Order: sequence, then structure tokens, then C-alpha cells
Amino acid sequence: MAVFFNITISPTPKPPKPFTSSLSPPQTQISKAPQKPQQNPIFKIKGPSTLSGHISISGSKNSSLALLAATLCCSGSSLLHNVPNVSDIKAMASILTYLGAKVEAFDGNMIVNSDGVGNVEVDMEEMKKIRGGFFVIGPLVARFGEAVVDLPGGCEIGNRPVDLYLRGLSALGAVVELRDGKVRAHAANGKGLAGGRFRLDYPSVGATETLMMAASLADGITVLSNVAKEPEVVDLARFLIDSGASIEGAGSDNLVIRGKSQLHGSECVITPDRIEAGTFMLAAAITHSCISMSPIIPSRLSCLIDKLSEAGCKISQFNQHTLEVSAVPTYIGDNLKGFDIRTSPFPGFPTDLQPQAMALLTTCTGSSLVVESVFDKRMSHAISLVSFCPLIWIVRELQKLGARIRVCGSTALVFGKDEGSSLHGSRVFASDLRGGVSLVLAGLAAEGTTEINNIAHIDRGYENIDRKLQHLGVDIQRLTPVACPL
Ligand code: EPZ
Repeated sequence: MAVFFNITISPTPKPPKPFTSSLSPPQTQISKAPQKPQQNPIFKIKGPSTLSGHISISGSKNSSLALLAATLCCSGSSLLHNVPNVSDIKAMASILTYLGAKVEAFDGNMIVNSDGVGNVEVDMEEMKKIRGGFFVIGPLVARFGEAVVDLPGGCEIGNRPVDLYLRGLSALGAVVELRDGKVRAHAANGKGLAGGRFRLDYPSVGATETLMMAASLADGITVLSNVAKEPEVVDLARFLIDSGASIEGAGSDNLVIRGKSQLHGSECVITPDRIEAGTFMLAAAITHSCISMSPIIPSRLSCLIDKLSEAGCKISQFNQHTLEVSAVPTYIGDNLKGFDIRTSPFPGFPTDLQPQAMALLTTCTGSSLVVESVFDKRMSHAISLVSFCPLIWIVRELQKLGARIRVCGSTALVFGKDEGSSLHGSRVFASDLRGGVSLVLAGLAAEGTTEINNIAHIDRGYENIDRKLQHLGVDIQRLTPVACPL
């Protein structure tokens, strides 16, 4: 069983024990239950809020998605602990079930056995909901010799091509074809993939994870260069190594993978969600509060910790996995200072915290520059003029809440509270996961009542965020509007 918080992969890992299920029969078997028509709940937040107390951080959504895809590489069962109860995970579990895997979920754990996979074509709604669903193409081609997968969905935050996945799989001996919105791939030799060399033009997280899974079952040695160094990539490598794979270099720019003919199921504990933790750190800052949180791996958030310290926050580490963020007036005075951000791949400033940080910057002093360099349309929560992007309707959302922001392409100039931003309650609409939660943060600091619609976007990646905020003293309600009779 993987050690919970050991974040460095030792070169010669202990031969892991294949997982055998000794736990009591699980509660629920995940199946394709007919969907009840959704009632669109909303959040109502009374602000300004002051937060206090301690919050528990859930397991990482993005690590869970990658590890669930990786269970397709493994013979026998895998057991994942600390899996967050969010809708993206449910969608991924449905995709695995659709393929023929047996997926059981109980108390934050999941057992997946993919020996029954008989279907290699993924043609279903869930694929359009999440980007992570596309990751299955690697394990399917590598273990079952072929795959037919819909082009992925997920957050509308810009162009999200899959060229690196397709070219990478070709470099591993797959014949890949994109036709009618589907990617068809099969092993050229009709048997399996072969080791090869591939340099990613951009250190894509998803492409790195997918090719790492494929290469783990390829015949021979694969060298992947300019790969992503995100912690989720390191978590996936650890799980694969515990399942019998030979991977070196996770967390660095290059991966060397010696393919194996078979991997076995293993047991793993999902690491804490660094983006959820970062979101709560920003919530403490925007409300001038002091809260602590655990479990957290501070080294995975060093960029944010530096920025919040620069702004004036006091960040204290109580023990290896507990952090306190204080922005109380007695410590910071009236306001935090603004700061500039440029998002970039890990260890740079995470693009998944950019919208939340922008909400904070509207409450700081001075003006701040925010440059989004990872996704070309992830400014939709703040754009006021220039490019008309499909998400333009959310443009007005932070401004409706009193923010003053000017955007040009992927650069935003955020004016602080002494330069015209003054957050007040209003009725706003979430358009994607992180953009949606940035509206929650703004609502925490806004004068009056903020109503956030389309919160299904937020539920995709945050487990019970309303209950966690209530626990910290926030007046937030999840309400299901009653359909008024016509
Ligand atoms: C992962 O997305 C995360 N999703 C994203 O989190 C996160 O924002 C992103 O990494 C960056 O950290 C999951 O892990 C499920 P990328 P991914 O491939 O893998 C370009 C959230 O909110 N690119 O690293 O899709 C692409 O256009 C989500 O939790 C190519 O050009 O991100 C983009 O500009 C949102 N060709 C850049 O790479 C390719 O083949 C980064 O994308 C693939 C990507």
C-alpha cells in the first residue's frame, strides 16, 4: 500500500503487494442508472463573511481521474482510498463501467477491476462532460490493442486540442485516426504498443499521463521528454510503479519507462487536492480571516504561498500536513497588497487558481496584472471588452459583483479596492469549475447577498463546498429553486 504523503519516488521501489480485496462487500455498485431530470440548485451567500476554524481537504479530483484511468492498465482489482465525492469522478466511474470494468464505491473508497473490459469504444455523454475521460485511450490501446474514443469535453476555458496524445501514441506504434469527432487507435502490429521516443511540444498534463500509462505496457523502453511535472503526474507514476511498472523521472522534464507485459492492481491513498486547498487559502485572504487546513502538502502550493505572503498574509505550518493562513486586520492592517500573476505549468502559478486569485486581487490595494499563459480563454470570468468568446456571458459576472477589471487577450489588469473595485452582492452565473468558485470567493467578501447559479459546475470539482464554508462560519445556502407553475 502506497505511503500517504511520501512525494518523492524512490528509484528502486519496494516490490508492491498485488491488492486482494479483504474488505467487507461494498455498499454501492456503480451502474448506468437512468438520470433524474436535474433541478438547478443555486448558492445564496450573505456577505461579507469572516471565516474561522479548521477545514479538511478532500482527495485530489485530478489525481483520482488519472488513477481511475490507470486501473484499466492493471489485471485484478485496485483499491483507491480518499476519492473525492464530486461529479467528475462519478462520470469517470460511469465511463469505466461502460467499458465493462467493475467499479464499487463506498465511504470515499473505490475498487476497480477492469479484467471484464470487453468494449473499447467510449461513446457516451460522460465523455463530453470531463476531459479526464479521454485519458482512457492510452490504457485501452496498450492493454486491449485498440480504442475508439469521443473527443473530450470538460471546462470551456480555451482550445484544448489532443494532438500531443495522438502523436505520442503514434510514436509508440499506434495507428491513430481522427474521424467524425472520434479518435480511433490500434496497435500497428495488431498486438501491442512498442517503446519509442516522443518530445511533447508543451508539457501537457493529460498527454503526459496518458502516454505514461500506455508506455508502461509497451514492449521496450520509452523516453518522453518535456513532460508535465505536476504533482498529479507524480501520483500517477507512484500508483503505476506500485502496480509493477518501471518509471523513472516523474516530477522532472523527462520520463524513462521500461514497458512490462502486465501490471497488477494495487492499493493507493489519493493525495490531498492542492487546488481545493489553494481555494480555501484564497478564501481566508479575501475575507481577512484566519483558518487552518489539513491534510495539505505545502511544497505543492509554494507559488501561491509566496504570493499570499507577498500580499501580506501570515502563513504558518503547524506540522507536516497542517497549514494556517491568517489575513486578520490585526496582522495585515486594512488591506492586502495586490500582486502580479503569470500562470504556467508546475511549479509555476497554477492556472486552476487564477480565477480565484483574481477575485482576491479586486479586494487588495493597487492594480495587479494577471497573465493566463496555459489556457487561451480562461479570462471569461473577467473579460470586459476585446475578444468575444463563447463564455462572454460570464464576462459580466465579476463585474456585476463590483469588480473593475480590464482584459486584453489573455492579460487582465485588476483594479484594487482603492482603484474602483468594490464587491457587492448580485445574481451571477457560473460557467466553469474554477470560474464558478471564484464567484463564491467574491460573494464571501461582497456586501449583501450573492446568488450563484449553475453551481453544478462547482460540484464537479469541490466536495460539499457549501457545507465546508458553513463549518467555517459562512452564511451560505444551497437552494433548489421551486419551478414556478406557469
Ligand atoms: C489538466 O488538464 C487538468 N485537468 C486541468 O484542471 C488543469 O487546468 C491543466 O491540467 C493544467 O494544469 C485534469 O487533470 C483532468 P493540459 P489538461 O493538457 O491535461 C495544450 C480543473 O479545473 N495542449 O496540460 O487538459 C492545451 O491546449 C482542470 O481541474 C495541446 O496543445 O491540461 C493547453 O493550452 C481544468 N495539445 C495546454 O496544453 C495537447 O494535445 C495545457 O493543457 C494537449 C494539450
